Formats: sequence, C-alpha cells, structure tokens
Amino acid sequence: MLFAQLVDDPSARPEEFPTEEAQEVERLRLFGIIEELVKWENVTNEAVIEAARAEIRRCFDGEPPAIVDPFAGGGSIPLEAQRLGLEANASDLNPVAVLINKALIEIPPRWAGRPPVHPDDGSTLGNRTWAGAQGLAEDVRYYGQWMRDEAERRIGHLYPKAKLHDGSEATVIAWIWARTVTCPNPTCGATMPLVRSFWLSKKKGKEAWVRPLVEGKAALRDEVWGRVRFGPGS
Ligand SMILES: C[S@@+](CC[C@H](N)C(=O)[O-])C[C@H]1O[C@@H](n2cnc3c(N)ncnc32)[C@H](O)[C@@H]1O
Repeated sequence: MLFAQLVDDPSARPEEFPTEEAQEVERLRLFGIIEELVKWENVTNEAVIEAARAEIRRCFDGEPPAIVDPFAGGGSIPLEAQRLGLEANASDLNPVAVLINKALIEIPPRWAGRPPVHPDDGSTLGNRTWAGAQGLAEDVRYYGQWMRDEAERRIGHLYPKAKLHDGSEATVIAWIWARTVTCPNPTCGATMPLVRSFWLSKKKGKEAWVRPLVEGKAALRDEVWGRVRFGPGS
C-alpha cells in the first residue's frame, strides 16, 4: 500500500512514457515489484526490498517523505515504511501499542549489527558476526530465559504440577487468577473466588469446565473456615 501510494503511475510521466502502450509496459513492471514484495517468503529478500526502495527514491529525487501513523496499533505501517527506507514515526493512545512500536521500530535499529552483551561462556556465541537485530535477539532470548528461571526459583512453588488420572504429573500451562472474598454467609465464611464463568473451553467436542468444591465442611463446625478448590467438570 505504501509503495502504491508513493510510486507514480507511469501516466504521470508522459515525457518518459508518451504512449499508452509504453505506460502499460512500465505499469506491469511496477506491478511485478508489488507482486514480489507481498510474498511472505520474500520478507527478508534484500534484493526485492531494495528494488522497491529504488523506485520510491526515484519518484522523490532521492529524498522520500517521512511517514507518520498516528494510530499505529501493532505497527505494521511504520514497520513497512522503515523497511522501504522511509523515516517512520508512530503514535497510539494505547500504551501496549506504543511498547510494541518501540520494540518493533525504534529499538532494533539502534542495536543493529551489534553483538549481544550477555556474558558469553563461549559455547553458544563463538566467533560469528551479528547482522541486523540478531545480537539484540540473542540478548532478549538469553535474559528472557534468565527471568523465566529466576521466576521459577522464587515463586515456582506457588504453581505446582498437576496430578493426572494415571498418577503422573504434568506442567500446568495456564493459571486463571481470581480475586477472592470471604463469604458473608455466617454459616459459611469460606474464601470465595470471584469467577465470571467456570467454562475453560466451549469449543464443540472439546468442552471443558471446572467445578467449584467447598473444602473443610467438617472443619466448619469447629469454626475453621473452608475454602473453594476446583476439580474437573464432568
Ligand atoms: C485499527 S488499529 C490500527 C492498526 C494498525 N494500522 C495496523 O495496521 O496494525 C487503531 C488504533 O488506533 C488507536 N487509537 C484510537 N483512538 C486513538 C486516538 N484518539 N489517538 C491515538 N490512537 C488512537 C487504537 O489504540 C488502535 O491501536
């Protein structure tokens, strides 16, 4: 879309393409660039992107305009603008969108071609070169893993493994967080989770839900408050 907006149709350059036929030939050549540009497998094909950049530069005497996307969302427009060699500016009302744009457009070029900064034990990095954002990506992977390991070490005990029917254990892949209140019923007093729905999946054939089970009923008579745990639905 950016390419089509910025590159002139050949009919706008009659001195170069004086006849309809000549314009059509040139138009088809430009369409060919778009056809190559939109192919997913060409995302990192430098020759294809450079051909598009060259056409844009030609239409602006080497000085293409800056692109501003005030409602950038996931950042696809400024990202593509940057890939096409244009100065890209983005903003959004939503701070998550701003963070995505920063991570996608602003930060990677700053570290382009640089090696990672994490302490290398020599086994993973070796003597290699770091093109584009590869060094930054290696650091994100390394420190992401470090944060994951550290979180597991400090709070992993709060997220125990699930016991399966056959007695084996499995890692829980998602936890549902809920606020709790003390049940105001004086004969209950259980710690109640505030949950909007007990459905986990309503997909046809994969229906699954949890069933709230009040624990500690016997203890309640001794005024030890119960709590709700969840068991599998049936
Ligand atoms: C449809 S999305 C944009 C999608 C984006 N063009 C893309 O291709 O990924 C619209 C965005 O506009 C943002 N937005 C809505 N009202 C806004 C405002 N007044 N100022 C800035 N951003 C706004 C929303 O937060 C949302 O991220």
